[in-house]
Amino acid sequence: MLSPALNQALNEQISYENYSAFIYKAMQGYFEAEDLPGMSNWMNLQFQEELSHAEKIFRFVCDAGGRVEIMGMEAPNNKYSSPLEAFESALEHEQKVTQLINGLMEKAQAEKDHAAQIFLQWFVTEQIEEEASVSLIISQLKRVKDDGRGLMMVDQELSKRAAAPAAE
Ligand SMILES: [Fe+2]
Ligand SMILES: [Fe+2]
Repeated sequence: MLSPALNQALNEQISYENYSAFIYKAMQGYFEAEDLPGMSNWMNLQFQEELSHAEKIFRFVCDAGGRVEIMGMEAPNNKYSSPLEAFESALEHEQKVTQLINGLMEKAQAEKDHAAQIFLQWFVTEQIEEEASVSLIISQLKRVKDDGRGLMMVDQELSKRAAAPAAE
């Protein structure tokens, strides 16, 4: 049985994962407007992944005897001055999420909630991947700078991203 405090913290994380999803959806809108279909594809998959994170926590809270409550969220940023700025903003966001996940883990540890700790481990590892994949794109965009052809190549690369098999 989840403690009320951990239940509340997980509910906040559900809303934050939903918020992450809409940040990426807004970024997809920007890339569509910029005619960068590969980056749009990447952002759309990111959007879906974040929704699946929210769903994962939703399921855990319900199964662990908690009560899900969904909170409102602020509007995401819809305007970016360059692809690099959008991906840098994505990295900053993921770093914030990593802090939140670590905070949740510390709460679960303090409460000696073993099930929650094991559940949260998946998210701890996931955040390593999230930060690494965005950092790689940032390095490529920095290398490309204002070279249009280079940007097209990065876009082409990101068009190859396919949906990961559904996490169990
Ligand atoms: Fe997430
Ligand atoms: Fe994420």
